[in-house]
Amino acid sequence: MSFLQEWMFHIHLIMAISWIGGSVFMFVLGISLRDKKAQQEVYPHVGPIFGWFEMFALISLLISGFFLGDYYNLFKLLFNPDGSAISDAIVKKAILVLILTIATLIHFVIAYKTNGKERTKLQNILSRGSSMLIFILNLFVMHYAIILRDIL
Ligand code: HEM
Repeated sequence: MSFLQEWMFHIHLIMAISWIGGSVFMFVLGISLRDKKAQQEVYPHVGPIFGWFEMFALISLLISGFFLGDYYNLFKLLFNPDGSAISDAIVKKAILVLILTIATLIHFVIAYKTNGKERTKLQNILSRGSSMLIFILNLFVMHYAIILRDIL
């Protein structure tokens, strides 16, 4: 592995920790902070900082993941899967990451537009649904990331 790829792997790991750690913490906050007044005081301040932090982590993950995938020649396998365990792991991880990225964009746009304001019913459903989906998908992305690393 070259110097650049070594760095990309370290960045990939620290950003995965930040991205997933952040979402787990917000999940815990969502469950424990039930008081409406407290929510109205906390979320308008914490929300935007959390949103940009997570956006930065996800973009860094995608960029460093792209470098790693290129180093291991995984993109050939991604677009021409051959049924091997590694091809299976990269295809599944990439599909989950794609859905996760779309769900994050939906969540981010709604949160950005409605921070500190009332939400419509549809915005509420989309926002809660996407955050739940991101949380669950993260666990599966981690699973396939570990399988991938095990084989490489
Ligand atoms: C939400 C997005 C992502 C998360 C949370 C994530 C998470 C991780 C984690 C935790 C590892 C280390 C696994 C271990 O050490 O056991 C890893 C490794 C890896 N990831 Fe990702 N990843 C993401 C996106 C991507 C993308 C988009 C690609 C490229 C298509 C990618 C390619 C790789 C590769 C090739 C490795 C193995 C690196 C090596 O063994 O040197 N990742 N990922």
